[in-house]
Amino acid sequence: MSIHHRLFAATYDTLLKPVERRELAPRRARLLAGLQGTVVDVGSGTGANLSHFRHAKRVVLVEPDPYMRARLSTRLGESPVPVTVSDADAEHLPLADGEADAVVFTLVLCSVPDQRLALLEARRVLKPGGTLAVLEHVRRPGRAGRWQDRLDGLWGRFVAPGCHLNRNTVAAIAEAGFDFTEVSRFEPPAVALATPVIAGTAVLRPGDR
Ligand SMILES: C[S@@+](CC[C@H](N)C(=O)[O-])C[C@H]1O[C@@H](n2cnc3c(N)ncnc32)[C@H](O)[C@@H]1O
Repeated sequence: MSIHHRLFAATYDTLLKPVERRELAPRRARLLAGLQGTVVDVGSGTGANLSHFRHAKRVVLVEPDPYMRARLSTRLGESPVPVTVSDADAEHLPLADGEADAVVFTLVLCSVPDQRLALLEARRVLKPGGTLAVLEHVRRPGRAGRWQDRLDGLWGRFVAPGCHLNRNTVAAIAEAGFDFTEVSRFEPPAVALATPVIAGTAVLRPGDR
């Protein structure tokens, strides 16, 4: 892990604070409050989702970055439900096949090395009928999207380590065998390059397990 990862973890909450309060926190609340049973929060970061898991039986927080995990560990008391922290990654979730009722990715599918592998792993651990909940910034169509393509390398190198501006996450979710039950799109103004953001839930397509 580089100095960049350390710096990103140290500044993440401060940088996101304005957009978090106005735009992201209400979306997180809406997306996560109804999740029940065993929930896996993949790439938990500093713990922005922690206070929103109101009805889960337990939440497994998966965070491979030690700097993020150190911050996350200081905030576990914010969770209204029991939580455990794992240093695993999205490609190797610490759950048995079909153990999870819900898998959550918020601002993570932009950063995993391979979206397909992460989504197939989510699919492995989900129960039949389980929920995939996502809140992710995605590539914009047209000219603005071409700018995101051009700036993608610089963004991942100098702004948010490993993050990509130009992923077509909605298509990747469908290709991994999920159907959206609901999805909305919004434009947090403070993070113009990393927009639009999609928020939604999906379930595994019947017969696609
Ligand atoms: C932009 S932060 C988002 C944190 C948090 N989910 C949120 O909504 O604020 C991206 C997170 O994804 C994590 N991440 C990157 N690659 C990952 C992987 N392969 N598996 C799990 N987490 C990963 C990073 O360590 C980081 O904590």
